[in-house]
Amino acid sequence: MENMDLLKISYLLGSLSFIVGLKMLSSPDSARKGNLYAAVGMLIAILATIFFHEHTNAETGEVERIGNLGYIIGGIAIGTIVGYLAAMKVKMTAMPQMVSLFNGMGGACAALIGIVEMSTHHPEFWGERLIIFLGLMIGSVSFSGSMIAYGKLEGKIRDIGSKVQQVFNNTFVFAILALVIYASIQPDVLSGNAIWVIFGCSLLYGILFVMPIGGADMPVVISLLNSFTGVAAAFGGFLYDNQVMLTGGILVGSAGTILTILMCKAMNRSLWNVIIGAFSASGGPAKSTEGLSIREINVTDSAILCSYAQRVVIVPGYGLAVAQAQHVCHEFEKVLEDKGVEVEFAIHPVAGRMPGHMNVLLAEADVPYPKLKEMDDINPSLPNTDVVIVIGANDVVNPAAETDPSSPIYGMPIIKANTAKNIIVMKRSMAKGYAGIENELFYDDKTRMLFGDAKATLEKLIAEVKSV
Ligand code: TAP
Repeated sequence: MENMDLLKISYLLGSLSFIVGLKMLSSPDSARKGNLYAAVGMLIAILATIFFHEHTNAETGEVERIGNLGYIIGGIAIGTIVGYLAAMKVKMTAMPQMVSLFNGMGGACAALIGIVEMSTHHPEFWGERLIIFLGLMIGSVSFSGSMIAYGKLEGKIRDIGSKVQQVFNNTFVFAILALVIYASIQPDVLSGNAIWVIFGCSLLYGILFVMPIGGADMPVVISLLNSFTGVAAAFGGFLYDNQVMLTGGILVGSAGTILTILMCKAMNRSLWNVIIGAFSASGGPAKSTEGLSIREINVTDSAILCSYAQRVVIVPGYGLAVAQAQHVCHEFEKVLEDKGVEVEFAIHPVAGRMPGHMNVLLAEADVPYPKLKEMDDINPSLPNTDVVIVIGANDVVNPAAETDPSSPIYGMPIIKANTAKNIIVMKRSMAKGYAGIENELFYDDKTRMLFGDAKATLEKLIAEVKSV
């Protein structure tokens, strides 16, 4: 078999493993395996390109193989070590930052492909130039935007934006697009410097695009930038007539777009609303809770209430991740089950700060997957639930989403904890959640507040339940 046939078969295998891997990522049960399958697919694609790729030199007529092997292998080795160390070290709560950083690197690669191709090959056909410029533009926006998103999530960059900047941003992006089209049709424009102007303007646009978006909206933005990187990589695949790069790019582009839409839907926000930064971490107006009072409960009484319940539902939220309380939470579930209590987890699609945050967290603690119930499946059973324990969640159980049209979260689907017979809310203080608004649930007659760090409180609760 010819080398180029082996290359095509390897690319087909690589593409198939991306598709199967992506499909397996849709369930926590198979997600780890899916990730591994896709990584093996990438390895096949890289090795096949190194060993089987051939092209004919137009001048000498000789068949040539991939060159610069030292640089390629050196780059792979450095990338592997840095990636491995970063992935081993990263805390679950810092995952969005890492995704943003890695996504930015993907965008930078797509931009570099554009620069190298344009500077060394001087393509003759305008369509080829358009593909290179578009890949360069989208990759650069993705790179600089992801870096700003990273800085915001790390708390190093604050939100800066105004209506004027929005108008400027929109005009600017159309101006860059116009330049991309013009420079593709008229290659002599700017005496061959168009590539650098497009590169610089796109980097600047990436910064201006992400700057006004609220820090807490970053996961949505990262998902959007992720889809940009996918599209930029797909342009690269198109340019090189490389099927596996094209398939990979399209999969990342479409998966990122679908995820962005799903996140916006689950938060009841439009993408435009997120992009213009209309609802940032500072939140908007909400019903006042002045004059209302809360009722506290201690660990012993909470343990008694839970131990004598028939059914307990745990609603985990961002605070569970902050406290790293997933393992004790699973332990708590088990001690209650030993007492004959039926325990389930209610999972809100945007609980936490990244898609599937609670699923990943609880899967890490080996909570059986069938115990994790999606919001729509568990809500009807909550009125028959003796105790709902809200652990570090706030917005996802806020009844204002259903009752207060002036609330910034009005319309967001919630876990209807307020319909349960008793509610225990575990958090450290009366501090607000991501949306920056009060939560009426805390003042409900059926609600008791159990203050303290989720992990420490759960540990005490486990000891008490055991002694009941
Ligand atoms: P939040 O509304 O952010 O509330 C988390 C609560 O956890 C806080 O009120 C905080 O109160 C408490 N907490 C923090 N550390 C704690 C600790 N160590 N122990 C106990 N409690 C602790 O979280 P949520 O209910 O999960 O809602 C998620 C929000 O993020 C939604 O508004 C959603 O739209 C938004 N969002 C989600 C995503 C995705 S994809 N998941 C993406 C972007 C935005 P104390 O400080 O008083 O303890």
